Amino acid sequence: MFKLTAKALACALSLSIAGMAQAADPIVIKFSHVVAEHTPKGQGALLFKQLAEERLGDKVKVEVYANSSLFGDGKEMEALLLGDVQLIAPSLAKFEQYTKQIQVFDLPFMFQDMAAVDRFQQSPEGQALLTSMEDKNITGLGYWHNGLKQLSANKALREPKDARGLKFRVQASAVLEEQFKVVRANPRKMSFAEVYQGLQTGVVNGAENPYSNIYSQKMHEVQKFITESNHGVLDYMLITNTKFWNSLPDDVRSELDKIIVEVTAEVNKQADELNEGDKQRILDAKTTEIISLTPEQRGMWRDAMKPVWTKFEGEIGADLIKAADAANQ
Ligand code: LMR
Repeated sequence: MFKLTAKALACALSLSIAGMAQAADPIVIKFSHVVAEHTPKGQGALLFKQLAEERLGDKVKVEVYANSSLFGDGKEMEALLLGDVQLIAPSLAKFEQYTKQIQVFDLPFMFQDMAAVDRFQQSPEGQALLTSMEDKNITGLGYWHNGLKQLSANKALREPKDARGLKFRVQASAVLEEQFKVVRANPRKMSFAEVYQGLQTGVVNGAENPYSNIYSQKMHEVQKFITESNHGVLDYMLITNTKFWNSLPDDVRSELDKIIVEVTAEVNKQADELNEGDKQRILDAKTTEIISLTPEQRGMWRDAMKPVWTKFEGEIGADLIKAADAANQ
């Protein structure tokens, strides 16, 4: 039998208390978002939780709040800055209060397809946007895809003139407001959680969304037509509170950084498939006709909406628009 000296005993005690404190106090990361679980962002949040808890054991606890159940899109950014949530992934249309540059993603017909969106996001200019809001305590950790937006309405939209006078729900983005004004429609800003009801009650007549958001929010049940316009992109920036992220222990932060790279790759790999699956589910539901545009009709929409670029060129920066356009080659 061996005897513990008083010093060794004190040391053992303090170590075990420290151990208990660590086990009892995992770092809580709240991840709040506004979409359903079966969407690219919803799946990404769940995968992040799974990997973080698997690999960091009881050092970290991730709580995911889907469907605006904790904060809606009007409040989530403020909540992040106040430290009430630690991770959010707002759509790129929701950053205009923090930087005008990210509005480049909202320009209609900016990107020919998701591969071009991806090339721009990975370019030096796209990557620079991730750290462009650190003076406001917002750090971008990566871009997550959803996909290209489709126009929906209770009227068949084949040419820009068909949209005249209709009320369209838009995200909180001046560029998206202007995109509808140029076709003489009436944009109305509305939070995501209100869209279904807005369409159902006729407060708005139409909207623009990727198929995954249309299907998961059941918007197809209250929209007779979807025009496959692919006229813009709805993607996300995964962001955190800069001070919070920098305050994490180095080993935790570097593991989380690695996990985010992995989750981002997975989200971006699966987003297209998810949207295609939801397009098929909408077709199967037989509530909604999906209209394909002829190249000529699509050209008419592009010509009608393109003046939005010039209007916002000063705010966004001609060089950034050029860099985004270069990603189409
Ligand atoms: C919207 O408001 O339409 C989107 O930003 C919702 C989302 O997060 O996909």
